[in-house]
This record gives sequence, C-alpha cells and structure tokens, in this order.
Amino acid sequence: MKTEIILTGDRPTGHLHLGHYVGSLKNRVKLQNEGNFDKMYVFIADAQALTDNYDNPDKVRENIREVALDYLAVGIDPKKVIIFVQSMIPELAEYTFYFMNLVTVSRLMRNPTVKCEMHEKGMDESLPSGFLNYPVSQAADITLFNTTLVPAGIDQEPMIEQANEIVRKFNSIYGETLNECRILLPDNSICARLPGLDGNCKMSKSLGNCIYLSDSEEELRKKVMSMYTDPNHIKVEDPGCIEGNTVFTYLDALCKEEDFKEFLPEYHNLDELKAHYKKGGLGDVKIKKFLFNVLNRELKPIREKRLELAKDMDYIDKVLIEGTKKARIVAKENIKKFKKAMRINYFDSYDE
Ligand code: TRP
Repeated sequence: MKTEIILTGDRPTGHLHLGHYVGSLKNRVKLQNEGNFDKMYVFIADAQALTDNYDNPDKVRENIREVALDYLAVGIDPKKVIIFVQSMIPELAEYTFYFMNLVTVSRLMRNPTVKCEMHEKGMDESLPSGFLNYPVSQAADITLFNTTLVPAGIDQEPMIEQANEIVRKFNSIYGETLNECRILLPDNSICARLPGLDGNCKMSKSLGNCIYLSDSEEELRKKVMSMYTDPNHIKVEDPGCIEGNTVFTYLDALCKEEDFKEFLPEYHNLDELKAHYKKGGLGDVKIKKFLFNVLNRELKPIREKRLELAKDMDYIDKVLIEGTKKARIVAKENIKKFKKAMRINYFDSYDE
C-alpha cells in the first residue's frame, strides 16, 4: 500500500554541495528508486531564499537552473519526481499568510535553526519579518501537498516540529484537515550534519567551506588537500587525533570497504587506518589522497552528467515548467479544502 507523500526542497543561493548530497539528495534518489510513495516532490525554494537575499535577486535567479542541474545530475528523475519552483505556486503564499495567525513571534524566535542563521547573518538588529516567518512558509510547503515524509538533514528538524505544531493548531480550530509529517534523516548520523572543509560544524556557502557537486576534479583535489585535520599532528611520526579531524569525519560519512581494496590496500578498513593515525606514523597527505579518491569515485559520475545536461538548458527549463504545472494542479485542489475548513469559501458559484 502506497500512502507516503514525499517532499523536500533546497534554497537556490548557490550550487548544491556535498552536505546536501549526503544529508538529503542521496536519500531522495534511494526513495525515488524504491518507488514506495504516491507522489514525490522536490522543489527549488526561491521564495525562502529571498527571505535573506531580497536585496540580491539575481543570485537567486541565477541559481534556479543550477540547482535543477544538480538534481538531475545526482539522479533525480523527472519521470518519477515532480520538480517545481516554489514562487510559481501562489497557493503557498496564501497558506503562509493564514498560518502566520497560528504561530507566535516568540515561538519563531525560539526556533534554533532560525536563531543560529540570524546570528550568522548578523541580523540581530535588523531582522526582516519575512525571514522570521520562513518556518511558517516552510510549514505551508509541507502541508499544501499533504506531505508525510521529508528527507532532510538534522538542521531541518526544528522546521518539521514547527510545521506539525501548526497542523495541530489548525486542526484543533478548523477541524481535521491537515496531516502531520515526519523527517527522514540519513542512517549515518554524520551525514545528517556534515562539517565544512575548515572543521566548522556546518558546510555552507556563506562560510565558504564547501565541496560542490559541480567542482572539477582539480578543484576537489585542491580542496581536500587543504582540509583541516589535527593541528598538533605536525610530523608524520606524531600521534594524531581523530575527533574533530575533518578528513576522518568525511571518511566516516563516505568510505566503504571496497575503497580500501581499490585505493589503499595496506589497510582493510577505517578502524585500522584510524588506529595507525592515532599511534603515529601516518601522514596527513596519505589520508587526504585516500579521501580524494573516495570522494572522486562518488562525485565523478555526477560531475560528468552535470556537464552533459548543461548542454541542453531548454530541457532543464522544460522539466521545471512541467513539474511546476503538475504541482500547481495539486495545490489548487488542496487549497479548496483548506479554505473550506477556514470558512473563507463564500460563494459556491465562484470558480476561478
Ligand atoms: N529550509 C530548507 C533548506 O534550507 C529548504 C526548504 C524549504 C525545505 N521548504 C522546505 C526543505 C520544505 C524541506 C521541506 O534547505
């Protein structure tokens, strides 16, 4: 029995990176291929991106097609998944407006993800109300399509909680109409929040510590070779530290036993490699070269497919337009039930 409705999205503020890939994109492709769902939506959250980039609309505009390229390059298949653009579904803005009544400002101020982003972006003094409200708009994204499952990284957990609170409040006032959803995190907890190249707890474009899916092999090599390891591991003979060592964190997130057979046959697995590093006698260059190979094995086919897809941007536009049309049909249907529940459907004979 298929009852799952899967939905997730990304802000188009840059190309998608390794954090997106291990945190959510990989899970989406797996879900898509398992086929256990009624509908699956993946969307480009441009309206959300504008909540903190309203003064730089070209950045958002330029990244719509780039994110779509990333989607198709990792294997999201527009025959199975509806890919759409958020701002082209005006019903989302309508839902958001009515949902805003159901959330207090103090509750929004307590959202840990919003708090952290506000601080990062230096908004403490000049918080746009649109930005404070983006979790409300995200609740609209989720509920408009009757979503049951959201594949995402751990930073999205507060958004899901917030959405479910709004659903419960809505249903308690206007009657059972909307359904709650749950988050699907990656199995590997490191993948749910991959640190940046510099060891910062988050890989993020604004922190400039990302490996992009579109990076060339040379860019990837350079980035890996410059990664943060253990600052006290100076000579090869020195004992090294694994905790907080980003190269090992990435290996924990990504390497498989086959990688050792192919790229580092002196070791059988990651435990052996870690033990040697801790004891001393294993240099950073060697572990970085290994990580480069592990990453490149995964990213090379994506990079190549992306270059191929980029030759036909008309096709990318077609995917986005057709996906958006399909999503709009569902949105129009569902908003009728929503407005009926809210008692704002005044004239039966009025049909747009
Ligand atoms: N907040 C998400 C991000 O920053 C993007 C997003 C918007 C989203 N609406 C969503 C994710 C709904 C999951 C479900 O990447």
